[in-house]
Amino acid sequence: MAERYAALLAGDGVIRGLIGPREVPRLWERHLVNCAVLAELVPEGATVCDLGTGAGLPGIVLAIARPDLHVTLVEPLRRRTTFLEEVVAELGLERCEVRRARAEQLHGTERFDVVTSRAVAPLPRLLAWSMPLVSPSGALLAMKGSRATAEIADAGDDLRLLGCADPEVLSLGAGEPGRLDPPTTVVRVVWQGHGVRG
Ligand SMILES: C[S@@+](CC[C@H](N)C(=O)[O-])C[C@H]1O[C@@H](n2cnc3c(N)ncnc32)[C@H](O)[C@@H]1O
Repeated sequence: MAERYAALLAGDGVIRGLIGPREVPRLWERHLVNCAVLAELVPEGATVCDLGTGAGLPGIVLAIARPDLHVTLVEPLRRRTTFLEEVVAELGLERCEVRRARAEQLHGTERFDVVTSRAVAPLPRLLAWSMPLVSPSGALLAMKGSRATAEIADAGDDLRLLGCADPEVLSLGAGEPGRLDPPTTVVRVVWQGHGVRG
């Protein structure tokens, strides 16, 4: 399934402008494997919301790697949701749904065990979009680059106002075999008093 998804990204994904042609030679390491390592942080049977999923990264990869998950792909642009619906149908991802919406439109109506994102917004804005969707015992998992620690420092007031615990910075995929270079950096944020907040 991952190979079929890679072929769809390299074919229609490029033709329809969802992924740059220069990304094709590095699709596996920089996109698919880079996203797949996130699966180790997601609990069994969790509901996952991937905000700003674009062409399905990391959401489609998680749905392929972890058929136990229920994955909701949230993306405002129709051109992208059309592609995502085609991918979900073609791969037969029965527990994966596509929602054409901005994150803020789901506030107050939806909650998820895990809210993921990659390359969507700086941490302060991402927290405001994501935390209202995180269930009381859930977590935000934001894939970030080398600026993760600096972004956390910038988000100090936002973390306090929202009632979040201190974020953790995790480095994934650094071990053998198949060492990722650079590893995937993930910022994990849970509520203060994790599991207690109603
Ligand atoms: C740079 S792309 C990243 C796409 C994908 N996550 C990846 O890593 O390849 C950012 C995506 O966030 C989406 N986006 C922007 N504002 C959003 C919002 N308020 N709620 C949800 N998605 C949003 C954009 O439409 C775009 O697809």
